[in-house]
Amino acid sequence: MIRKAVIPAAGFGTRMLPATKSQPKEMMPVVDKPVIQYVVEEAVASGVTDILMVISKGKRAIEDHFDRSYELEAQLEEKGKAELLASVKRISSMANIHFVWQKDLNGLGDAISYAKYHVGNEPFAVLLGDTIMDNPGDPVLSQLIVQYQKTNDSVVAMERVPMEKVHRYGIMDGEDIGNNLFKARSFVEKPQAADAPSNLAIGGRYIFNPEIFTYLEQIGRGVNNEIQLTDAMQMMLQAHPMYGYVYEGTRYDVGNTLDFIKTNIALGLKRTDIGPVLAEWLKELKM
Ligand code: G1P
Repeated sequence: MIRKAVIPAAGFGTRMLPATKSQPKEMMPVVDKPVIQYVVEEAVASGVTDILMVISKGKRAIEDHFDRSYELEAQLEEKGKAELLASVKRISSMANIHFVWQKDLNGLGDAISYAKYHVGNEPFAVLLGDTIMDNPGDPVLSQLIVQYQKTNDSVVAMERVPMEKVHRYGIMDGEDIGNNLFKARSFVEKPQAADAPSNLAIGGRYIFNPEIFTYLEQIGRGVNNEIQLTDAMQMMLQAHPMYGYVYEGTRYDVGNTLDFIKTNIALGLKRTDIGPVLAEWLKELKM
């Protein structure tokens, strides 16, 4: 079983300024929930019981969100708002949540390396804190866990992206071994389209064996002068088999303005309470 998950949530969120000047991007509301709550809910729905968030200065609101709020609970209780009270209480009791502070923002690989002592010697999940995966039936992390259980090798969520977008992602070259599973041959972070070995992009959910920490210590700085998780994966691949799994579901990267707005609309439309009214309004808006 995968009990532990790491959620990197330390980045500045510069693509969402000025909204993120004094507010973590992971706390931006999508419909009526902060992005990071969707991420935690996906982990919990996949069986994770222990979550380590890698944060940085200015991320205090994330800590507060997953803590209890006694004043708020007392007020909701007094006013008889039972449903809201239950939803607020649930946030702080979903999982054991821990925090560690990334001292300098040296990239995703550096952020994950802070989890080494917390994770110890067991496989663990990584879920990017600014990415929502929507699949109400079977959470994307849970799909990866099923794959992990087949091989006990590290496995990464993949999706096909248009060639003109490969430069934004970690890209995998792999052998198609059927049922949406690919045995990795190489990983490369943010290649130019001309150099990309495929259009299979890393989608922000991973399961790693703890050996990844050894490689995170060995790699130097890569693309954008950052310590890249993808570079550690490429090095690990030389000694350990790794897999990519093309998941079922929709990925919403909430770290940029256009996708943030699209995510709000897409997930708002799915809501039974406000979806139909929103759909009507969107139709009127088009006229
Ligand atoms: C990170 C990873 C990249 C992955 C992407 C998915 O990049 O480094 O491999 O494809 O997340 O969102 P970032 O979006 O932080 O630049």
